[in-house]
Amino acid sequence: MIDVAVITLFPGFFSGPTGVGVVAKAVQTGAMDLSFINLREYGIGVHRQVDDAPFGGGAGMVLMPGPLADAIESRLDTHKVLLTPAGRPLRQSTLDRLAGYEALTLVCGRYEGVDERFVEEFVDEEVSLGDFVLAGGDAAALAVIEGVARLLPSVLGNPRSLDNESFRDGLLEEPQYTRPAVFRGRSVPEVLVSGDHGRIETWREAQRVERTRERRPDLLA
Ligand code: ADE
Repeated sequence: MIDVAVITLFPGFFSGPTGVGVVAKAVQTGAMDLSFINLREYGIGVHRQVDDAPFGGGAGMVLMPGPLADAIESRLDTHKVLLTPAGRPLRQSTLDRLAGYEALTLVCGRYEGVDERFVEEFVDEEVSLGDFVLAGGDAAALAVIEGVARLLPSVLGNPRSLDNESFRDGLLEEPQYTRPAVFRGRSVPEVLVSGDHGRIETWREAQRVERTRERRPDLLA
């Protein structure tokens, strides 16, 4: 069982997506314990303030270290991850590694950033969903939750389905086809209905390499 807690200003953001599919299955089977810590409850004063203007000036607001420190206090013995566009990019290898922890705490950044002293004091690693800026780390935390949930042994229906997937061998997946054999005048590639498993695997490998060369040459470099 992996224990995952999310520190967020928007716990409601997660209620739909974590109630369906692999995440719901992980929670229902007891493979994942998923909980939410509402940062607002640790805010300061009657307004439960969690952010303030940046020292040195500049646009936007910065999450104050105090409320975050109080919110994470019950999770000090877990692996603590801050979701921020300034983090290391999330990769399949990141998810493989995160799925191995007993307990994770995912801290969702908001506004222009998070006070660096909180990061220095509490955060074990910073992770980014990619080279773009969202309104906060919540969507990135959701990606981590789903990416980890599907790796948990009791959640995975057919363990072989992880073998060939994109990124595990450093290549994109080949195109896939199912019935009908002809759809709107387009036939399934002949090799796939040949019954020749050697030819099929050769074709699939060539498709993976070709797709990767075309779409993600960085993966081949
Ligand atoms: N918060 C805002 N943008 C983000 C990103 N790309 N990854 C992680 N957290 C974020």
